[in-house]
Amino acid sequence: MTTQHYVFTIDGAAGTGKTTVARELAKRLGTNCLDTGAMYRAIAVISVDHGVDPEDGVALAAALEARGVRFDWEQEPPAILLGGKDVSKRIRDLDISSVVSIVAKHPEVRKVLVKQQRKIRDDRSMLVAEGRDQGSVVFPDAPVRFFLVAEMDERTNRRVKQLKQLGSEVELETVQQDIQARDHLDSTREASPLICPDGAIRIDTSNKTIEEVTDIMEDAVRSFLSV
Ligand code: DC
Repeated sequence: MTTQHYVFTIDGAAGTGKTTVARELAKRLGTNCLDTGAMYRAIAVISVDHGVDPEDGVALAAALEARGVRFDWEQEPPAILLGGKDVSKRIRDLDISSVVSIVAKHPEVRKVLVKQQRKIRDDRSMLVAEGRDQGSVVFPDAPVRFFLVAEMDERTNRRVKQLKQLGSEVELETVQQDIQARDHLDSTREASPLICPDGAIRIDTSNKTIEEVTDIMEDAVRSFLSV
């Protein structure tokens, strides 16, 4: 008998609410949530804090293999560890956000992380995976896939609020510029650009609460599981 490894994916751009609803959906399903953006952000920490050129994909991939990026699944939400050190707070800083789309464009870096992401799926019977390429590239066979969109003002306000909660006071305009720059880089890069995966359920989260979005997702997943 083969063991099932179900993965449900959530793709979408910055500030569309992916991470928040992915965590909530995982909680309702009693399983883990994989925040793949945190992994790419950890590579940006390697670049900024350890002096590796963000344009050098080969050097970044080598530094990544040497240091190791992994999650501590015992914590809620799971902590992201770089070389064993918890960098969960550091990865949200704006200097990291402004470099992350550069380090994320390299195929050498993506290859290492995608392999780790598939291993994380293989290690459990069910997983909610969120990130720009989860339903399109990493798990194209995921049985239920979502694509989130939201209006720019709403996305900016959410990011500002999130940064405030983490203790950073930032200008609205600076955050909006960061989101627009990342949108551009993430959707025009050659390796795994941000797209709506074929057959994905598209949800506009602009005027919906976290509960409303999660309800739509949970209904879709449960109706798949009951078939
Ligand atoms: O979801 P986030 O804002 O934390 O993601 C940070 C960056 O990481 C984003 O600008 C692009 C990159 N990323 C990616 O290229 N592929 C993913 N699966 C997740 C994130």
